[in-house]
Amino acid sequence: MSPTILLTGGAGYIGSHTFVALVEAGYTPVILDNFSNSHPAVLDRLARITGMTPVCERGDVLDTPWVQSVVTRHTPAAVVHFAGVKAVGESVAQPLKYYRQNVGGSLSLLQAIESAVDAGAAPLPAFVFSSTATVYGDPDEVPVRESAPLRPSSPYAQTKLTVEEMLGCAVVARPAWRVGVLRYFNPVGAHASGLIGEDPSGIPNNLMPFVSQVAVGRRERLSVFGNDYPTPDGTGIRDYIHVQDLAEGHVAAVRALLAGQPGFTLNLGTGKGSSVLDVVHAFERACGRPVPYQVAPRRPGDVAEYFADPARARELLGWQARRGLDEMCADSWRWQSGNPAGYAGA
Ligand code: NAD
Ligand code: UD1
Repeated sequence: MSPTILLTGGAGYIGSHTFVALVEAGYTPVILDNFSNSHPAVLDRLARITGMTPVCERGDVLDTPWVQSVVTRHTPAAVVHFAGVKAVGESVAQPLKYYRQNVGGSLSLLQAIESAVDAGAAPLPAFVFSSTATVYGDPDEVPVRESAPLRPSSPYAQTKLTVEEMLGCAVVARPAWRVGVLRYFNPVGAHASGLIGEDPSGIPNNLMPFVSQVAVGRRERLSVFGNDYPTPDGTGIRDYIHVQDLAEGHVAAVRALLAGQPGFTLNLGTGKGSSVLDVVHAFERACGRPVPYQVAPRRPGDVAEYFADPARARELLGWQARRGLDEMCADSWRWQSGNPAGYAGA
């Protein structure tokens, strides 16, 4: 019997790619999602890629008794907790929404698991949490190690760090609980089939979806936020990681925890920085057309440069990112050009 892995937020961008990677690795993923930021059409796409109809529990992680019933019915060997909200700007305007969804949602899920386990209805599952490199804020040095100072600079980042701390306390109380915290750098790209990808609602906040929408003609031009940073071409440098590499990092984390590895906190990045203009030029190569852009003022809160030191993930999980920027752009373009209106056009 292949172990069941419960994916909260499994219909979303990273969750859907992780679903595919888990199936390929021989696991049985089950999705729990309320579709607040995803489209049910993703389920059909996942069926086409994997050849199996996804099992999906539709509901809210904040509904603790219902989540407990899901855990009791599926008795997952591991839970990967993607569900949450993730827009930095929105978190500044609506911090309480972020505390409710990210902190409250994680608390509800953990309580549901604990109740199911204490009732003898399910074994204690390994737990993997989606955290973010923004917990480091503006780092003192690059590449950024996991031991770098934690300076969350937005309510979003603060909620992720709060959940990391909550998990730390939960593990002290239950030393047998195997918990992996994964701090993602900048996930981009799409599955090579072009059937699933990132589908932001409204105007994209992040670079790669904005560039893709310019290339496909949905937006006129990109604004490059600042070209006077202390970087070689003056634009901001980030560690873009292919979402399929990230998904495989989750498989490696689940596998390690199920094999008895004690808990960990790990960066998931490539270790390589790319500038905004590197991304624009790579995308132009991928789509074979120019991506018009104009230089605009810096975006408040942005830092000049950060990229991961991913050595610890390589040592503990035997995982490292394999795909480069050209592949990230080619796969983003295949998804965007095949689905110009995202899943809504499906
Ligand atoms: P996403 O919005 O595409 O996916 C999140 C999924 O969770 C969606 O399908 C949404 O419908 C679901 N969801 C949200 N609230 C829920 C609730 N209360 N109950 C049930 N389902 C709910 O986001 P993503 O990019 O796939 O990110 C996944 C996780 O990774 C998030 O926790 C995010 O904070 C974290 N993360 C993302 C990035 C990134 O750049 N995408 C970077 C670092 C960390
Ligand atoms: C942002 C979030 C971070 C989140 C990450 C997910 C902020 C402050 N941080 O990080 O919490 O984990 O997304 O991938 O929002 N850029 C442009 N024009 C654009 C959009 C972006 O020039 O239209 C530039 C930015 O200035 C930056 C780079 O592109 O230099 C990457 O931006 P983005 O994709 O938003 O990621 P981050 O800012 O790293």
